[in-house]
Amino acid sequence: MLDFTLKQAGIGKLEYDHRRIRLYLGQNMQNSAQTILITGCSTGIGYCTAMTLKNRGHRVIASARKLEDIEKLIAQGFEAVQLDLADSDSIQVAVKQVLQLTDGKCDVLFNNAAFGQPGAVEDLSREVLRQQFETNFFGTHELTNLLIPVMRKQGHGRIIYNSSVLGLVALTYRGAYNASKFALEGLADTLRLELHGTNIYISLIEPGPILSDFRKNSLALFQQNIQVEDSLHRETYTLMAERLTKEGAAVPFTLPASAVAKKVLHAVEAKKPRCRYYVTFPTYLFGFLKRILSTTWLDYCLRKV
Ligand SMILES: NC(=O)c1ccc[n+]([C@@H]2O[C@H](COP(=O)([O-])OP(=O)(O)OC[C@H]3O[C@@H](n4cnc5c(N)ncnc54)[C@H](OP(=O)(O)O)[C@@H]3O)[C@@H](O)[C@H]2O)c1
Repeated sequence: MLDFTLKQAGIGKLEYDHRRIRLYLGQNMQNSAQTILITGCSTGIGYCTAMTLKNRGHRVIASARKLEDIEKLIAQGFEAVQLDLADSDSIQVAVKQVLQLTDGKCDVLFNNAAFGQPGAVEDLSREVLRQQFETNFFGTHELTNLLIPVMRKQGHGRIIYNSSVLGLVALTYRGAYNASKFALEGLADTLRLELHGTNIYISLIEPGPILSDFRKNSLALFQQNIQVEDSLHRETYTLMAERLTKEGAAVPFTLPASAVAKKVLHAVEAKKPRCRYYVTFPTYLFGFLKRILSTTWLDYCLRKV
């Protein structure tokens, strides 16, 4: 049924096997319906997760930044609000709308929305780096801080961050994105320490390559913000643009968005959600290598990717 709904919604083949999800969820799950706010539901992981959680019976408030996406979400039966993480006013208004809809309740916040600005570190202007942080870091932080008091008041809550394998290790030409996700990891780890004992749980999802519009959106930002002709890196940029333009999976071990949704479902429903959820083989591999290798040897491996 879920597979049918997702295909109908036009997001392609999502190898969604609910029997495996039931097995994965196993025991120790809380099965009451949760009220969940998700950012970045226009497409990709946000959309797939919103569908998955809604079809599990949870109350999902889906947010997106464009009106046309809000309309589409509403047409598909979601409660939806407009929320642009780069705009503080938009965040404040969205939170008010959510709390009006839910009578002041929010059990789970899934901080999903983000983008990746490609480009060599030395080609990133201060403004471009600032834009990367406005959405991926500052906006996410502001939204989270508006909902923590709600969770404290109700005596429980879950905050789930969609980070990345690039929040664990760095790759060339992803400096802006790496920095924003490393920052998010630091903030989430600190928050987890500070909220210990409050019944508010913090989880980080660490996806590796996932099929979505992420690369397409990155390519547009690359073309818009990086001065290729003036750059010492222009030859590499040609290869990078080819990778970003490639249809389908650009690298091995790419998984569908449903692989992330499955982990989010666990973070929402498990009695004790995990601090970190790895998704895809590259995350397990680099997570492991980071623990055992010196920085020099890890750099050696990462330069080969
Ligand atoms: N795809 C991967 O390989 C991968 C791997 C690791 C981690 N992730 C993480 O997964 C999350 C979702 O990415 P995705 O793969 O689903 O990519 P996606 O298809 O590009 O979706 C990104 C979502 O974020 C939204 N967004 C971007 N800027 C925003 C802003 N300022 N305010 C509100 N929403 C904004 C987009 O909205 P618009 O449609 O309006 O642009 C879209 O809904 C991100 O946190 C990303 O870092 C992805």
